[in-house]
Amino acid sequence: MAEFTLPKNSKINKNGKIYKSSAANKKTFKVYRYDPDLGENPRLDIYEVDLDACGPMVLDAIIYIKNEIDPSLTFRRSCREGVCGSCAMNIGGANTLACTKAISDFKGDVEIYPLPHMPVVKDLVPDLTHFYEQYKSIKPWLVNDEPVGSKTERLQSEEDRAKLDNVFECILCACCSTSCPSYWWNSDQYLGPAVLLQAYRWIMDSRDTNKKQRLAELDDTFKLYRCHTIMNCATVCPKDLQPSKKIAAIKQMIAQSH
Ligand code: SF4
Ligand code: SF4
Ligand code: FES
Repeated sequence: MAEFTLPKNSKINKNGKIYKSSAANKKTFKVYRYDPDLGENPRLDIYEVDLDACGPMVLDAIIYIKNEIDPSLTFRRSCREGVCGSCAMNIGGANTLACTKAISDFKGDVEIYPLPHMPVVKDLVPDLTHFYEQYKSIKPWLVNDEPVGSKTERLQSEEDRAKLDNVFECILCACCSTSCPSYWWNSDQYLGPAVLLQAYRWIMDSRDTNKKQRLAELDDTFKLYRCHTIMNCATVCPKDLQPSKKIAAIKQMIAQSH
């Protein structure tokens, strides 16, 4: 029988601090709080937010909490319009971007956690070091040693450029990889949907001359073949991308290359 050991501090105290509001139009946000320096288990703090005083998105509520109620709340955000990927978190049980998720999408209280199955730096900030190392491992840059000649850029036909549609839009938010059960259990070796989608992006780039080598490097039981087409990745992607389809395409290209 398989035995699992829960990571240190994985038990969450659901009775954290409560911050009440006397506002007439308010909503309750239950937010995961964890500070590794305190040596305490994580807790859920409860904040009542005056909806008439904050914007319409979940990120607006989080910023309101930090500015008006509890400055110690820690999270990442930058663009506030679904472009940078830094506000990815688990909201109401699903990974998504806080800045593009409307508060009105939730009927009752809203529970907010960091992206699942990642080490937590503090509160809603996951440690993405390993994720970015994996990204680096697929060489996410153009490999082409052929001289450009008198031209200043490497041109691409419209058809070849179109092959990168539904791929280049990826903002590397990690919502997909952290919702993938295979990635939860094997992220030490399995690259996960986000990084494999990025690998596909470079394999398909007509200007890149490293396709054969890129495919050979992915031809690995763990790096690629841990994907079991569970499809959580496609369900949660805030950019409506389909990493699972691209993973299947990589598998097909490798099969054809044998
Ligand atoms: S594929 Fe979608 S969910 Fe995954 S990292 Fe890219 S944008 Fe985020
Ligand atoms: S389709 Fe593959 S990558 Fe996507 S969630 Fe399932 S196992 Fe993970
Ligand atoms: S803040 Fe940039 S994607 Fe949400």
